[in-house]
Amino acid sequence: GSACTMTMPMDHTDTSTSCGQSTPVTSLQAPQTAPSVKQFTLTTRVVKLNIGAGKTVDAWTYNGTAPGPTLRVRQGDLVVVKLVNTLPEGVTIHWHGVRVPNVADGVAGITQNAVKPGQSYTYRFLATDPGTYWYHSHEQSDEQVARGLFGMLIVDPAQPTERDDVDAQIILHDWESLGGGITINTTQQVSRVSAQAGEWVRLRLLNTRNHPLGITLVGVPFTVSALDGHDLNKPQPLQKILLPIGGGQRFDVRFQMPKDGMVRLVVTDEQGEVLQAPAALIGPDGASSPALPASLPLNWFDFSRYGEPRVDEITPQSHFDQQTQMVLGRQLGFFNGQFFMTYTINGQTMPHIPPITVSPGQLIKIRIVDESGDPHPIHIHGHTFTVLSRNGHPLTGSPVHLDTILVQPHESYEVAFRADNPGLWMDHCHNLNHAAHGMSMMIAYP
Ligand code: C2O
Ligand code: CU
Repeated sequence: GSACTMTMPMDHTDTSTSCGQSTPVTSLQAPQTAPSVKQFTLTTRVVKLNIGAGKTVDAWTYNGTAPGPTLRVRQGDLVVVKLVNTLPEGVTIHWHGVRVPNVADGVAGITQNAVKPGQSYTYRFLATDPGTYWYHSHEQSDEQVARGLFGMLIVDPAQPTERDDVDAQIILHDWESLGGGITINTTQQVSRVSAQAGEWVRLRLLNTRNHPLGITLVGVPFTVSALDGHDLNKPQPLQKILLPIGGGQRFDVRFQMPKDGMVRLVVTDEQGEVLQAPAALIGPDGASSPALPASLPLNWFDFSRYGEPRVDEITPQSHFDQQTQMVLGRQLGFFNGQFFMTYTINGQTMPHIPPITVSPGQLIKIRIVDESGDPHPIHIHGHTFTVLSRNGHPLTGSPVHLDTILVQPHESYEVAFRADNPGLWMDHCHNLNHAAHGMSMMIAYP
């Protein structure tokens, strides 16, 4: 019957099925369930990048652009990426949010050595979870991501459930360390996305910066369809709401183009102050843009009360094999005759923070508390975690699955994950400057 699936005939000659019997192949077409191999090559190089408004930066890039090329694959594909390094320093590629095998995690000094100038390295993993992800270097990442070594990875669902006529990426980057400003995709000015009245638009928002940003859409109600690539259940339309996007996080927003006019994407700083640039306009080419409103809503989106509940594997009532905490702090350090700020977890800095040691199959609960006075987007490698509570209150809406959680000053969250991916994994702040100054630890399997 139709429930039998083919067993990964990579060369399309194997005819056995998971039902344990042989079925003759009557067509030369590859069976639909065969995983296909998607191969890419990413070559790093230095490029003078024009980021608009008469500004040029000396970017470090994958394939000559920053963002690097968007890698688009289908759920179930085997992804094979060859990294060729022509930069003067070692680099890697980390697949942020993707549950890759540990050996493909791309963390220099932990899962591989940095790929030296003139050398190459090949990453292989199955794209098991659909959604919006990204990739970036994980060698001196504070410096190398800022210089441009990042791009987006999109895994399309094997069975698409929503109609997207327009599917566009809004990648926010900060060229501050190279003397530039904030860009959407590659421009500090206004990006344009072409869309016609009545079309359904999905915008995949990614913040690569160290600092959080606010984003809202003017001229249309929108839904937050996914967080960190994981769909929310029955998201309600929003208006006059600012989305707080921490470094490393992704938001998929969806809306239907209004009958006439354009939609304006507005970016704010972490306080909600509107930035005049960059911005994006979505609509028919040549249509005029809605005016920037004099003031913006200052209601921040709260995922803990959004969407509708649904049965989920991990809930606050689950039995947890381990419970631990990460108290985020800040403390003045002294090194080589200089004072500088260090960012701490449980009062310690990397490499002195004891790892969370887990055994395969365990369910682990972590309470994250921010006592530092700064926002921290906390990222766990190799796993997706479920958010159980915010400030002591269980979520009342959709289950929320993330790989990076933005923890604001004085906030606390409980998150939990199933230890199902053995290896040595990082757990760090995605303000990469904070990570470089202490806020970084490990999750270790025996
Ligand atoms: Cu996106 Cu350890 O990083
Ligand atoms: Cu931080």
